[in-house]
Amino acid sequence: MIGIDDLAMATGGFRIDLAAIAERLGADPAKYYRGLGQTEMSVVAEDEDIVTLGAAAALPVVERAGREGIRTLLFATETGIDQSKSAGVYAHRLLDLPPNVRVVELKQACYSATAAMQFAAALVARNPAEKVLVIASDIARYELGSTAEPTQGAGAAAFTVSADPALLALEPAAGVFTEDVMDFWRPNHRVTAIVDGHSSISAYLDAVAGAFDDYRAQGGSAFEAIDRFCYHQPFTKMATKAHQYLAKHAGADVPTATLAAQVDPTMGYNRRIGNSYTASVYLALLALLDDPTNLTGERVAIASYGSGAVAEFLTGTVMSGYREQLRNGTNAQILADRGQIDDDTYLARQRIMPRSDPSNYSNQHETRGPFRFAGVRDDQRIYEAATPR
Ligand code: HMG
Repeated sequence: MIGIDDLAMATGGFRIDLAAIAERLGADPAKYYRGLGQTEMSVVAEDEDIVTLGAAAALPVVERAGREGIRTLLFATETGIDQSKSAGVYAHRLLDLPPNVRVVELKQACYSATAAMQFAAALVARNPAEKVLVIASDIARYELGSTAEPTQGAGAAAFTVSADPALLALEPAAGVFTEDVMDFWRPNHRVTAIVDGHSSISAYLDAVAGAFDDYRAQGGSAFEAIDRFCYHQPFTKMATKAHQYLAKHAGADVPTATLAAQVDPTMGYNRRIGNSYTASVYLALLALLDDPTNLTGERVAIASYGSGAVAEFLTGTVMSGYREQLRNGTNAQILADRGQIDDDTYLARQRIMPRSDPSNYSNQHETRGPFRFAGVRDDQRIYEAATPR
């Protein structure tokens, strides 16, 4: 049995209520609260980036299980900080991992953490004594004033894949789907993504349906035999849309209330964090596991989508005793601890990037997380442990 042994999260140090953005954009807040299913979004502190968020998410996982046995660190992100060096190598040092670890970064929009999980499962199958640490970390940025602006966010999920997992045992069938579409992308010269919002929704639905069909062809369970569904959540209403679409596509006769119960418990964190790209579907899984309902033995689907586009559909079963491995109180506290900012403060932060001299700058000490990105000197990024605030 191979699967997810531990799972933890981190997010940006600040949050903005989407009503503040609605007011500036002349929109009804209900469009964001109900139409998109989002109440607020995380905003990173000046000295936070994908490395500090990713390492912060991974720290409790590494501290609980110990560093021994981790021989691979896979860092999934689409918010790359360097064209050559993996963000994972910086995280490896911050986490004080031993030198005998292979480290690599993976990219395919919001999908790559799921590829990382599958690669991890293959490594563990070859040597069941090994554990693989997967870090998914992203900061979602769109043009200010665009219709995509309320679907930004920032977050990280970190999990270990091992033999004899405590949380979720992965089932062997997995369905995959790839199609070259231009729904969302970010050229190297841009800090914000380019997106064709409405076509991205259709591309997502088509790809998830394609991956589900392949999952069935590979011997995967019928839709009716799956208890819960964790979808990639660029905004939580997308999970509802995808679930209704997939139920119809699969020809499943499931009452509306049951469909809602299969996805609603996955939305609690993403509704408040916003789009965390690669981390999003694993934050959906974490919210589901943290829900008070006892899920032992239930079959849970992971429906992963990354624009451009790649999708994967797979399932796992929840392990007995999984609750002992959770940190629900800590996760609620992480969200509550974010400082609330108004629209002017948020706009000023967003306009920091790009820097006038990207080769040399210092960042104020703002984060309350365990690590900080102190700045750049002569084109070298400086990361350090943060003193508690
Ligand atoms: P928009 O055009 O401003 O919004 O942009 P809309 O007019 O489509 O309205 C949104 C919803 O609000 C609709 O609900 C409206 O009816 C409702 P729906 O009909 O779709 O169920 N609405 C209201 N509800 C209550 N009260 C009101 C009200 N007014 C309207 N007063 C859009 C929305 C998502 C397109 C935009 O925000 C966007 O472009 N976001 C970025 C792209 C995105 O998130 N795409 C999702 C699929 S692609 C994906 O997930 C991959 C991604 O994560 C990237 C990656 O893979 O790396 C993005």
